[in-house]
Amino acid sequence: MKVIVEKNYEELSKTAANIIKDEIAKKPNLVLGLATGSTPEGTYRELIRLHKEEGLDFSQVTTFNLDEYVGIDKDHPNSYHYYMKTTLFDHINIDPNNTFIPDGKVENPEKYCKEYDRLIEEKGGIDLQVLGIGENGHIAFNEPDEALNVGTSVVNLTESTIQANSRFFDSIDQVPKTAITMGIGSIMKAKKIILLANGKKKANVIKELLKQDKITTKLPASILLLHPDVTVIVDEEAYNG
Ligand code: GLP
Repeated sequence: MKVIVEKNYEELSKTAANIIKDEIAKKPNLVLGLATGSTPEGTYRELIRLHKEEGLDFSQVTTFNLDEYVGIDKDHPNSYHYYMKTTLFDHINIDPNNTFIPDGKVENPEKYCKEYDRLIEEKGGIDLQVLGIGENGHIAFNEPDEALNVGTSVVNLTESTIQANSRFFDSIDQVPKTAITMGIGSIMKAKKIILLANGKKKANVIKELLKQDKITTKLPASILLLHPDVTVIVDEEAYNG
């Protein structure tokens, strides 16, 4: 696990966006795994700038998002569909037909989850996966537990995640209690992974992760220690607390 410590959020975002840019330069039809949340917003802003000012071309790129709340409409302002559209997709030249986000309103989620993993495989697998990290160590919506799902699955969110994400909703009661998320195995199959974390709130979990000494399902991000190509990019606040 490689670690890059940047001075602040802006530098972290630029570094992450440049890694994505370099991968697209190497492979214009890159299969890119994307995350939501506050953390990658700066990276997406920088990607938009690179597209508008430096001609970064997304026309052949395919994206797969990590997760989506269950029971939420695609056009709901708190859905990850809406987030991706407004935060990134509307501002770059990506083909909407090449963007995939789990559908939180499907009738048969089990079947759908299997199809999502199959579709990733069909597109050649994820070349570069962008990850954030929850304060409790979750990646995507793989919450700390006795066991973690290998493939894309429907999961219950923990109280701490519901609490953390309530800042995006009018009230905590409106936060969905379940989500569809790519599993740990789906994430680990990505050829390259970048995990981003900024701010003091992430300092505890980053300190645990960067001990790099134990793998535990109680800290789902620790499984990434088994992956051959992970870069953790943090700002000084997340690194030093
Ligand atoms: C969310 C998402 C994750 C994200 C994490 C951190 O609930 N499901 O994919 O990485 O929690 O979010 P944030 O970047 O807002 O701190």
